[in-house]
Amino acid sequence: MFRNKFTSLSITCLILCLISNPSPSSSSNDHSFQILDVSKSLQQTRNASSPSSTHHFNSALSLTLSSLPFNSNSNYTSLTLSRFTRDQARVRHLLHHHSLSLSKSKSKSRNPNFQSPVTSGFGQGTGEYLARIGVGRPVKQFYMAIDTGSDVSWLQCRPCFSCFQQSDPIFNPSASSTYKSLSCTSKQCAALDTSACFRDNCIYQVSYGDGSYTVGNFATETISFGSSGSVSGVAIGCGHDNEGLFTGSEGLLGLGGSSLSLPSQIKATSFSYCLVDRDSRSSSTLDFNSTAPADSVVAPMLSNSFIKTYLYVGLTGINVGGRAVRIPRGAFAIGRRGSGGVIVDSGTTVTRFPAAVYESLRDAFRDMTRNLRRAGGFSLLDTCYDLSSSRTVRVPTVSFKFSGGKTLTLPPDNYLMPVDESGKYCFAFAGTEGSLSIIGNTQQQGTRVTFNLAKKFIGFSPNKC
Ligand SMILES: *[C@@H]1O[C@H](CO)[C@@H](O)[C@H](O)[C@H]1NC(C)=O
Ligand SMILES: *[C@@H]1O[C@H](CO)[C@@H](O)[C@H](O)[C@H]1NC(C)=O
Ligand SMILES: *[C@@H]1O[C@H](CO)[C@@H](O)[C@H](O)[C@H]1NC(C)=O
Repeated sequence: MFRNKFTSLSITCLILCLISNPSPSSSSNDHSFQILDVSKSLQQTRNASSPSSTHHFNSALSLTLSSLPFNSNSNYTSLTLSRFTRDQARVRHLLHHHSLSLSKSKSKSRNPNFQSPVTSGFGQGTGEYLARIGVGRPVKQFYMAIDTGSDVSWLQCRPCFSCFQQSDPIFNPSASSTYKSLSCTSKQCAALDTSACFRDNCIYQVSYGDGSYTVGNFATETISFGSSGSVSGVAIGCGHDNEGLFTGSEGLLGLGGSSLSLPSQIKATSFSYCLVDRDSRSSSTLDFNSTAPADSVVAPMLSNSFIKTYLYVGLTGINVGGRAVRIPRGAFAIGRRGSGGVIVDSGTTVTRFPAAVYESLRDAFRDMTRNLRRAGGFSLLDTCYDLSSSRTVRVPTVSFKFSGGKTLTLPPDNYLMPVDESGKYCFAFAGTEGSLSIIGNTQQQGTRVTFNLAKKFIGFSPNKC
């Protein structure tokens, strides 16, 4: 579906690029500019729905993945604003967790009151993409938020000391024949950041800050992947006390890099997802042991020995309109003490770069879009345009350069996002105080992202949802 759209767009571009007045000095190389289809994307913003299409790749295990349903009572602007508020909270959490890990002040808390250090929440910010997963025997299905920024998977469990509202009946461990509590001396219990022991049952806690947390029994269960298979003995949290705004989800799937994450536990050699456009209601898949599509742009997957959870990519540069953005030396490298680096995150909305990198990128983009009508900033985004009077606009291409030499060209919808229903679009990047860069889900939309854990590469294949 997407493929067709882009083929027709490039034909439009051939015509439009000839007609429209090119900026004076740009020696218009084919890949320097792309066409943003304003009328189509606005229609989608207004519709917030589109037919679903699901592609299955050659994988062992596959789950259906969809974006959080829209709350139709709200308007698009206020939805986007609250999304950005959650996004800021998530990024603060990721940066804080990052600096905590580096300072090594994260002492293991083993007291039953769970006074672990907590920061601002990403409990609210993770619920954007939900996978449908089966738990126990007989199999019960649940919507779980996927999160590459954490490791422990959990779901709400009866009896509930405190549970938030969910659409499926809450999981009842005593009705599952495969549920088994983990003992306090198990290796899974030892791998938790925060744990306690109660009558030799391992108790876990994960805190997301701003009041969001989950506490309960750490146990093993059989996890089912649709009709594609199941894996027994997976350690998950059975949450009896769950507080916070995990809107729309019934639990969380931790896809991070440590030994407790789902991919590690099921010994997946790879996993991949495709994040459908937020404004569409189509679904896609979360696959394990899948091979990357042949047309994937391949980048090295790096690891940081100071923080195993995050999935790092070897980014070396950014191009705007075919020209390299001037970036401080080493801005993307993982420092000897674990600082810096670039992570790929499913839960962050807008890509973040250290302030100096962001400003350089933004200035390059502004420089090449002088012909477009500027509009005031919006929340964390400071470069916006009023495109309400255009059907299509020609915008400079933004691409990521990876070590190894490959370049990923982002579709225009992945860097110019509508923030209202009337045609205001903003450049979907922002700066941070920290040294960590985060590639967010707006930039990954419509792209199948494959994390090959065995061969240590990340593949990006556009238009593969
Ligand atoms: C929006 O909805 C209309 C009417 O239901 C449909 O014809 C059109 O294809 C939709 N557009 C998009 C981009 O989803
Ligand atoms: C949508 O929400 C924004 C921000 O809350 C508000 O300023 C605007 O008036 C609302 N628009 C409509 C059409 O309700
Ligand atoms: C994935 O493949 C590896 C290597 O072939 C295998 O050991 C593992 O069990 C597979 N995992 C799943 C979940 O299929």
